[in-house]
Amino acid sequence: MDGLYPEHQERTSSRGAATARARQTQESGFLEDVFAGLSAPRKSLPCKYFYDREGSALFDAICALDEYYPTRTETALLRSRAAEIAALAGRSAALIELGSGSSVKVRLLLDAFDRPALYIPVDISREHLMISAARLAGDYPAVTVVPVAADYVQGFALPAGVAAERAVVFFPGSTIGNFRPGEAIGFLRGLGTRLGRGVRLLVGVDLRKDKAVLEAAYDDARGITAAFNLNLLARINRELDGTFDLARFAHRALYNELRGRIEMHLVSLADQTVRVGGRAFRFHRGETIHTENSYKYSVGGFRRLAARAGWQAERSWTDPKGLFSLHWMVWPG
Ligand code: TRP
Repeated sequence: MDGLYPEHQERTSSRGAATARARQTQESGFLEDVFAGLSAPRKSLPCKYFYDREGSALFDAICALDEYYPTRTETALLRSRAAEIAALAGRSAALIELGSGSSVKVRLLLDAFDRPALYIPVDISREHLMISAARLAGDYPAVTVVPVAADYVQGFALPAGVAAERAVVFFPGSTIGNFRPGEAIGFLRGLGTRLGRGVRLLVGVDLRKDKAVLEAAYDDARGITAAFNLNLLARINRELDGTFDLARFAHRALYNELRGRIEMHLVSLADQTVRVGGRAFRFHRGETIHTENSYKYSVGGFRRLAARAGWQAERSWTDPKGLFSLHWMVWPG
């Protein structure tokens, strides 16, 4: 369990030292990842670094945008299927949410479930996680809330005493679409293997649709998504002594129909040199930093992907317009 539950570890060790250590590991990882991404022939940055305090707030604003249909569609789908999902989950379930953010959608499940026992929100954005977890714990006094500040891609296990058959992993928001398909298979297989036989997974997956609808969802009229993408450069400036001039980069979101994915980039508007952590990086005008992919699936396509990862898809639901899907799966072990 070493390294899996940083919150527990911090509570049991000297607080100052543990916090300093946690901060250090996170920062050195960030610097290394930025160096690696900006040194590559085709520049990129890992999307997990979007979610600092500013990024988390901007992401909440994206979720409320008219153009960003996934949040409200998934929420409506959860609301209409909550009773059915609750019956599948059974009594005293332990809910584990990957990338819990503000913990809004999960309330629909907690409201519908039969005496849910435990809620484990896992999120990389520590401060945002702690605030959201405390708020949720206040609203659900009967549920034990155990926040875990971690990059869930690095792996984690169930807390001792939680049987796999009682556990339900909730992975909403089509975050699975932010992995490449091969990586998604590896991640889903690892999840089942680690959590064990009988664990259930409720995953939200965005569906393929008209290019114009997709591109508007990732490039809204008010420029919130642009600000969210550019905040990654602002964060590098803040935390890694970067010299990015945000006026000399632009947000771009394009749907690659062949690959079925939205690609987000930051485009350099000039030939320029940017310094980060004492190193210089050259950009040509028009050169881009690839910051994220968001893969879109068909219902059948996603079920096939999950099957290749070893999961048994038991139910799939979509909204009446066929914009978004939810899947209930079991790990047969
Ligand atoms: N999982 C979300 C998605 O792929 C993440 C997301 C939504 C996002 N909008 C974004 C990421 C804008 C970066 C920029 O839809």
